[in-house]
Amino acid sequence: METEGTPDIYDPLFVKGVFDRASVAYRYWSQIASFGFIFLWRRQCVDHMPTIPFDGAIGLDLMAGTGEAWPYLLKRRANIASITAVDISTGMIRRAVDRLHRSRFDRIKLIEADVLKSTLAAASADFVISTFGLKTFNQSQQRRLAKELARVLKHGGVFSLIEASDPKGWALHALYRFYLDRVLPLVERSVLKGAQDFSMIGIYTRNFGDCRFFARCLANEGLEVEFKAFFFGCATAVVGRKP
Ligand SMILES: C[S@@+](CC[C@H](N)C(=O)[O-])C[C@H]1O[C@@H](n2cnc3c(N)ncnc32)[C@H](O)[C@@H]1O
Repeated sequence: METEGTPDIYDPLFVKGVFDRASVAYRYWSQIASFGFIFLWRRQCVDHMPTIPFDGAIGLDLMAGTGEAWPYLLKRRANIASITAVDISTGMIRRAVDRLHRSRFDRIKLIEADVLKSTLAAASADFVISTFGLKTFNQSQQRRLAKELARVLKHGGVFSLIEASDPKGWALHALYRFYLDRVLPLVERSVLKGAQDFSMIGIYTRNFGDCRFFARCLANEGLEVEFKAFFFGCATAVVGRKP
C-alpha cells in the first residue's frame, strides 16, 4: 500500500520500472554483484528440479529476465520441447529477444506480462522454473503466485524456483548485509552514476528472508514441496511436483 511520498516497492509497476532501468546492465551486474555465484545457483536450480516425466515437455520460465536460465534448461534437460518465458519488464524482454536472435534458441516463446495477471492455460505446464524472480513479491503476492503455479502445472508436473536469501544464522551474516546494504549501493552510485535500482535488491532480499514462506504457500495449494538452501543460505529454493 502506497502512502504519500513512499512508493510501494511491491507495486508491479514499480517493480517493472526497476527492471526496465536495470535491464541495460542486468546481466553484467548480477554476475559481478554475486561474485559469479549466480551461474552456479541457476544451474543448481535446474539440476534440483525433479525429472520431468513427459517427453516433448513444455514448460514455463517465470520472471525469466533476459533468459538467463534457458542455456541450463536446454542443455541439461533433453526432453524439453518448448519454454514459455514470462516477464513484466519491457527492457528485460527486449534483451531476451536479442538473446534469442543471437543464440538461435527456437524453442522459446516470450510473454510480456505480470505473472499474477497472466492468462496462462490451466494444467498446461509440464514444468515451471524461476531463477531469482521471487523476492519482489510480498507475502500476499507469494500466496497468489503459489496458487497460479498450482493452477498451471499438469498433474505429475514438476517445479524448481530459487531466490537470493538472507542467511540469518550464518556467522558472516553481518558482513553479507554490509556488502548488500552499503558496498553495492556505493559501487552502483559510482559506476552507474546515480542509479539505485540494483541497490533495491538488498531491500527486497532482506524483506523476502528465504523460500520457507513460499514453500508453505505451495504446500497449502496441495503441491509436494521440498525446501533447499545453498551456500549457507545465501540462496534458497523450493522444488517439487504436483501429485
Ligand atoms: C532478478 S530478475 C531475474 C531474471 C532471471 N530469471 C535471472 O535468473 O537472472 C527478476 C525478474 O522478475 C521480473 N518480474 C518481477 N515481478 C514480476 C511479475 N509480477 N511478473 C512477471 N515478471 C516479474 C522482473 O522484470 C525481472 O526481470
